[in-house]
Amino acid sequence: MNSLAIFASGAGSNAQKIIERFQSHDAIKVALVVSNKSNAGVLNIAEKAAIPTMLIERDQFFRGDGYIPSLKEYKIDWIILAGFLWKVPDMLINAYRGKIINIHPALLPNYGGKGMYGDFVHEAVIAAKENRSGITIHFVDEHYDHGDIIFQAHCDINESDNAALLASKIHRLEHEHFGRVIEETILGGSGIK
Ligand code: GRF
Repeated sequence: MNSLAIFASGAGSNAQKIIERFQSHDAIKVALVVSNKSNAGVLNIAEKAAIPTMLIERDQFFRGDGYIPSLKEYKIDWIILAGFLWKVPDMLINAYRGKIINIHPALLPNYGGKGMYGDFVHEAVIAAKENRSGITIHFVDEHYDHGDIIFQAHCDINESDNAALLASKIHRLEHEHFGRVIEETILGGSGIK
């Protein structure tokens, strides 16, 4: 059984889709939901799905054990970042090298890096008059939004689109692809198209 820990800081719509996909899967399960925000919607989603949750603190995460002992207690094999706004510390990357997957709401390597999350990304893409955007699912390494790309999907941007409309197009792509790409990556080797 491949056990996943989903790390999220926000509403958790991606986490919801991932939890639904693996609810009764024979080889993959969501064993833990981790958040750095006590009021994050993702914690309610986990509780409704009877999935254990863990609230993490800055000190222990960045200067302590990185919660690695706790992750090992839950027998976590893979870490899925689904809107997690802290940078993963090197000790956690080393403990789970090649096993941490992130989703970014733009077409990396463009529009990535520190501070590029949520509407900031969509505003930047629109301000640059791009005619398309999309999602990037990638392995996580020591640099923000930098690891090997696993999958990308695109959407068009119309001149009249604002950040909110683009965000809805991006969320639709995320919900359509993230769970499947995680499954292919874990079970089907690389999952790289
Ligand atoms: C998504 O847009 C994802 O690309 C980004 O954070 C957002 C999370 O949204 N990393 P949600 O909390 O899953 O609804």
